[in-house]
Amino acid sequence: MQDDAPLGRLEDLPADYVQAMRARNLVPLWPSLRAVLPPQLPTRPTQAVHWAYGDIRPLLMRAGDLTPIEKAERRVLVLANPGHTLEKMQASSAIYLGMQLLLPGEWAPSHRHTPNAVRMVVEGEGAWTTVDGEKCPMSRGDLILTPTGLWHEHGHDGDAPVVWLDVLDLPLVHYLEVSYHLNGERQKQRPGRGDRAHTRAGLVPTPVFGGDGHSRRRYPVLRYPWVEARAALQSLAEDRPDQAAVQLTYVNPETGEDAENILGFHALMLRPGQTLRLPPRSPASVFHLIEGAVEAEIDAPQPRRFALAEADTCVAPGFSAVTLHNARADAPAFVFIADESPLHRKLGLLEQRDQAVA
Ligand SMILES: [Fe+2]
Repeated sequence: MQDDAPLGRLEDLPADYVQAMRARNLVPLWPSLRAVLPPQLPTRPTQAVHWAYGDIRPLLMRAGDLTPIEKAERRVLVLANPGHTLEKMQASSAIYLGMQLLLPGEWAPSHRHTPNAVRMVVEGEGAWTTVDGEKCPMSRGDLILTPTGLWHEHGHDGDAPVVWLDVLDLPLVHYLEVSYHLNGERQKQRPGRGDRAHTRAGLVPTPVFGGDGHSRRRYPVLRYPWVEARAALQSLAEDRPDQAAVQLTYVNPETGEDAENILGFHALMLRPGQTLRLPPRSPASVFHLIEGAVEAEIDAPQPRRFALAEADTCVAPGFSAVTLHNARADAPAFVFIADESPLHRKLGLLEQRDQAVA
């Protein structure tokens, strides 16, 4: 039997039979079997979508005028994928994206929640996030973790608006019916910063000849400064001139594990004029352009082509090939990527359809 042979439809069944089933909370599988278990490729409501920062910024700044922070708690415009309906506020099946504005002098109160979050700083200086008592300064391109269960709050001592991109696994955690938050007191800041204690790859802080070199903190680094990530990408590109992909993954430096449990975070450098083809993979991916000009081509479900300017963001559904082209021949481009790969890996669902990276 061919796997795409048509199956019986609900309307083929006698009305009294359907009614008798429904009255007993029963549903026949076969009319819906192809929808939930299609041949070859999964059904993906996630669409390829591009959000231009030039469109978001004026609306976000207007939100600053319209809604005081006390009335918003978090002043965020959600980057919603129409494939899931805008009301569901999700970029993909597992990823939530929001562009958040904090004005000078504002403070977003301390809380913690079950979803994991990260911030990718988009614009402005002088803001900070206190995570688990550690004060993390926020500069363009910095990645700051606020993992599940850790207290966090935001403040702003600068004199211009600060904007960052929030990336959360909220849709998944909400789907699992475990999404909730708790409000807390203003945190007491503790001395020490994970990003300063772990400034060089391959070197981890140890107590004097004590233990095995692990701090036993699940998240020994909460802030990944962009200045370090950018320098590491350039160093990698120089060391491997023949290698196409110049990519780094944000990890726990003590264990090498993904920085967070559910979503993965990466920094990618495109060499001047480079075209990089990313093979189709099961996880959906988000691309946020930190620096440069990039054309992104996403081949499925419908082919789409986006011209990404700095601070623009786009999402590609899983199982779509993505081609990234650095539109500038005289300068590298830098892209922040968030994807669902740790989740797929843990579930045994991570899949790549071909190995080609050209
Ligand atoms: Fe939060």
